[in-house]
Amino acid sequence: MNFSTLLRTKVINAGHAAPTSELRRMLGPLDLTLLGIGAIIGAGIFVLTGVAAATQAGPAIILSYLIAGTACAFSALAYAELAASVGGCGSAYGYSYAGLGEIVAWIIGWDLILEYGVATSAVAIGWSGYVNNALTAIGLSLPTPLTHGPLEGGIINLPAALIVLLLAGLLSLGVRESARFNAIMVVVKLIAITIFIVVAASHVQPANWSPFMPFGWSGVMGGAALIFFAYVGFDAVSTAAEEARHPQRDLPIGILVSLAVCTVIYILVAGLLTAVVAYPSLNVGSPVADVMLRLGYPWAAGLVAAGAIAGLTTVMLVLYYGLTRVFLAMSRDGLLPPVFARVNSRTGTPIRIIAASGLLMAAVAGLTPIGEVAELVNIGTLAAFFLVCVGVIILRAKHPDLPRPFKTPWSPLIPLLGALACLYLMLNLPLVTWLRFGLWLALGFVIYFAYSRQHSALNAVEK
Ligand code: ALA
Repeated sequence: MNFSTLLRTKVINAGHAAPTSELRRMLGPLDLTLLGIGAIIGAGIFVLTGVAAATQAGPAIILSYLIAGTACAFSALAYAELAASVGGCGSAYGYSYAGLGEIVAWIIGWDLILEYGVATSAVAIGWSGYVNNALTAIGLSLPTPLTHGPLEGGIINLPAALIVLLLAGLLSLGVRESARFNAIMVVVKLIAITIFIVVAASHVQPANWSPFMPFGWSGVMGGAALIFFAYVGFDAVSTAAEEARHPQRDLPIGILVSLAVCTVIYILVAGLLTAVVAYPSLNVGSPVADVMLRLGYPWAAGLVAAGAIAGLTTVMLVLYYGLTRVFLAMSRDGLLPPVFARVNSRTGTPIRIIAASGLLMAAVAGLTPIGEVAELVNIGTLAAFFLVCVGVIILRAKHPDLPRPFKTPWSPLIPLLGALACLYLMLNLPLVTWLRFGLWLALGFVIYFAYSRQHSALNAVEK
């Protein structure tokens, strides 16, 4: 076996993005920022914060948010640099292909598929729970066999499967249509969060913050590794590189602004949640809406629930979008079957990939308890962030003259800190998550050596 092919790299397109891209450049800076906010605010803040505060960090969950937010900020700077200089819809996969070699690129592409695929299916199950609660509230509850998969005593989680298929339809229509829908839903969720912040701010009881750190530092770090999920998604903005009108300027804006906005929101919401009620009582399925009810504002609880449904919808939409773009990049490179690389000339969308991945994710969401392995999303994302941070350092050394419209400040310090922070958070994830991640990567290696290596488009270049 010729091992040197494992580390072969792709030439960087100095002109940014693939010149042959059939995707359509429709998105401006506001669209990209809203896509970022769409992908970020969702199950993490609306669901996980309660569990993490009650069982891991206590009121110090606010520190968990600060720590995870800092790791993300460092990584976001690295993403902004590579998205603007290397570009391409493959995101971290493409940057790794340019700087670190094919095998690393394959691993990270495979890993991104895991991140986006598991997140979309897992959030679909959360979405189904919220929608079913809302239907029950208006007397239209669905029978249990249609809201639970076969492993949980039902037949299928129908709402979860249906929402994935509906989003597949929307994504197939076009990126502009998807971005418009996303913008409306983002406004709904931001209104809901604003209402929560305003109402909760007048009910703060400082006594609830004492003790502040009931589970010590290890609780804070465990909490940070768990609620890292809440930040997942700003990276998906970088997969829009071939659909942004001015990618070199606007991708860094979309990535950094969306993350900054969401970090501020998260710290406010996490701080308020634990300041208005006692942290042990937050271990419920919908803590944000629940707190509104307990404070005596049923109308606000209803609005927050609507905001959560909107929020979970945009998370799925944007992460699913990211999945299709990474998949497209990998099939264009021959590492996945090129039959998927076709972009529909009428809609400008990769309909085959949208359909194939949508059917699979709908089946997973409808028939399996995928929510239980949602921590895989964290480990997968952290691995991608780690490599993007390392990628900045390596590409600066290997290609010092590459045009860099956005530069990570204080490199290599910031990317190095970013890489270390991501690694540290990964180490705080449970062993079982590592084992599952290992299994996924092992499967990836099998596919790479059985198929991708022989079909890589670089084989033709090398002949
Ligand atoms: N950040 C996304 C969420 O919290 C994945 O739902």
